Amino acid sequence: MSFSGLGEVVMNTKVGPEHFLMRVYVPQLTKLAKPGRFVHIRCSSGMDPLLRRPISLHGIDYGKGTISLLYQVVGTGTRMLAEMSPGDGIDLMGPLGNGFTIPDGINKALVVGGGIGVAPLFPLVQSLKHYGIEQTVLLGARSAAFVIGREQLESLGVKVKIATDDGSFGYQGFVTGLAEDVIPAAKPDYFFACGPYPMLKGLISLTKGFGLSGQVSLEEYMGCGVGACLACVCKNRTGGGTEQPASAGGFEYKKVCTDGPVFEASEVILDD
Ligand SMILES: Cc1cc2nc3c(=O)[nH]c(=O)nc-3n(C[C@H](O)[C@H](O)[C@H](O)COP(=O)(O)OP(=O)(O)OC[C@H]3O[C@@H](n4cnc5c(N)ncnc54)[C@H](O)[C@@H]3O)c2cc1C
Ligand code: FES
Repeated sequence: MSFSGLGEVVMNTKVGPEHFLMRVYVPQLTKLAKPGRFVHIRCSSGMDPLLRRPISLHGIDYGKGTISLLYQVVGTGTRMLAEMSPGDGIDLMGPLGNGFTIPDGINKALVVGGGIGVAPLFPLVQSLKHYGIEQTVLLGARSAAFVIGREQLESLGVKVKIATDDGSFGYQGFVTGLAEDVIPAAKPDYFFACGPYPMLKGLISLTKGFGLSGQVSLEEYMGCGVGACLACVCKNRTGGGTEQPASAGGFEYKKVCTDGPVFEASEVILDD
């Protein structure tokens, strides 16, 4: 079940070089919210852009009936979101998608966000904390200015380590390199990740080497957001974790909007 209708923007603030944090009062949607699910937003009242834009739930306040969205301005739709002001109505569908599942029996989690992939991880980190699961959070960004959400995560009392491509903050290099350094000492028994596909590919391969299973949240271009248009399909290994290559037919297509966006890491096939 999901909500479709208007929410009210209560805050929309610039929090990074291209990043905004928006809070929306929408109690009917908030009560269905869960980490890893997303909203599909009609950014314009006109024809451009025609399609809704998917944005993850970054914050969920069940008591106040609000959700928060952390978004990066990359094109027309997100630019329009950035122009919204408190009091404006915002046309939302959601929450959509499956969300993260916290498996029974995990004690130490590794949480890895690349770029704006940090957005859906914040409510997940809150849930992991709620269940008493120890966690190490790794954030990767192109430079210090693009590290978003570090203080917010640290304020929850979790360990946060940063990797920047240019070395302007923290570990110099990709967050997968940082993960390779961190895993032997942190000894996580599960991982969660969201970020660009090359990062996820690297991380899936790395964690497999450590015998670590986990979940990844995927981003694909979306149309309908509700499983009808097939715009968002991705390849998924049938049978979960078989080694049969995609070229040998060992996959099926799954819809990121309804089967995902969160998938078992062992099941996803991320083509180049
Ligand atoms: C499930 C899901 C959750 C998401 N959550 C967030 C979030 O919390 N915060 C956030 O900032 N962004 C998020 N995104 C990405 C966001 O939907 C796109 O950045 C947005 O749709 C771009 O719209 P636009 O009109 O501003 O840009 P467009 O003009 O449509 O595109 C501008 C640029 O962004 C690229 N782009 C557009 N859509 C995507 C996409 N889906 N995946 C990868 N690249 C894309 C285009 O190739 C182009 O280079 C999410 C995407 C998905 C599928
Ligand atoms: S966006 Fe239409 S099927 Fe997923």
